[in-house]
Amino acid sequence: MSGGTGGRGSRGASDPGFWESNYRAGRLPWDLGGPTPVFERLIASGRYPPGRLFVPGAGTGHDARLFARHGFQVTAADFASGAARAMRALQDPVAPLIILQADLFDLPPFLIGLFDYVLEYTCVCAIDPARRAAYVDVVTGLLRPGGVYLALLWPTGARPGGPPYPVEPGALISLFAARGFTLLERETPPDSIPERRGDEELLVLKLTVDSCQQSLTTINCQL
Ligand SMILES: C[S@@+](CC[C@H](N)C(=O)[O-])C[C@H]1O[C@@H](n2cnc3c(N)ncnc32)[C@H](O)[C@@H]1O
Repeated sequence: MSGGTGGRGSRGASDPGFWESNYRAGRLPWDLGGPTPVFERLIASGRYPPGRLFVPGAGTGHDARLFARHGFQVTAADFASGAARAMRALQDPVAPLIILQADLFDLPPFLIGLFDYVLEYTCVCAIDPARRAAYVDVVTGLLRPGGVYLALLWPTGARPGGPPYPVEPGALISLFAARGFTLLERETPPDSIPERRGDEELLVLKLTVDSCQQSLTTINCQL
C-alpha cells in the first residue's frame, strides 16, 4: 500500500502512542508488504558490499530483512512495540535482524560510529521537521568514517492523508553537507512502486573521512 497514516495528518506523530495505535489497529497504509524494488536494484548493482547496516523507523522490517538476506548485519530500530513485535514474528532464521525497540533520539551510546550504512525509507517523513537537524545528527553519529546514508525519500511533495511530513530532498542534502557528507547519487527512481513513482527520490551520501571527527565533535555525542 502507499497511503498515509490512517488519515490523521501530522497530529501526534512524534508520540510513540500515535504509531502504537496504528499497529494495534493493523492500520499500516505505508507498509508495502515487501521490500521496495529500488533497494532490490541497489543490492543487485553490487556497488554496496555487505556491512553493518542500521534501519531507523524500520516498521515491520521488509527492507531490513532484504538487506539481511544479502549478507548485511542489520540492526532494525523502531520505538513502537507493535513494530518490534511484527519484526520478531517475521524473523528469517537464516538471516535474523538485531531488533531494537528504541526511540531514534535516545539510542544507546555504544552504537556511535558502529555502522557502514544507515538505510532510510519513510522514517524521516515521520519526524517533525523541527527535529530534522537532530535526525541528521543521529545518522551522522551512527556512521563510521566513510559510512554511507542510503535514503529513499517519500513523499517529496505534500499529499493528502500523509505520511505526516513531506521531505524536501535539497534541504536534507544541505543538512548532511554541513556535517561533512558528500552526495554520491541523486535520482528519481524509475522503479518505485507505481503509486509512489515520481514522488520518491533516492539519495546516497557518504560521510567524508576527514570531516568525520569534526562532525562527531560538533554533535557532542548526542546519541
Ligand atoms: C511511516 S512508518 C514506516 C515504516 C517502515 N520504514 C516502512 O517503510 O514500512 C514510520 C515508522 O517510524 C517509527 N518511528 C517514528 N518516529 C520514531 C522515532 N523517533 N524513533 C523510532 N521509530 C520511530 C514509527 O513507529 C513507524 O514504525
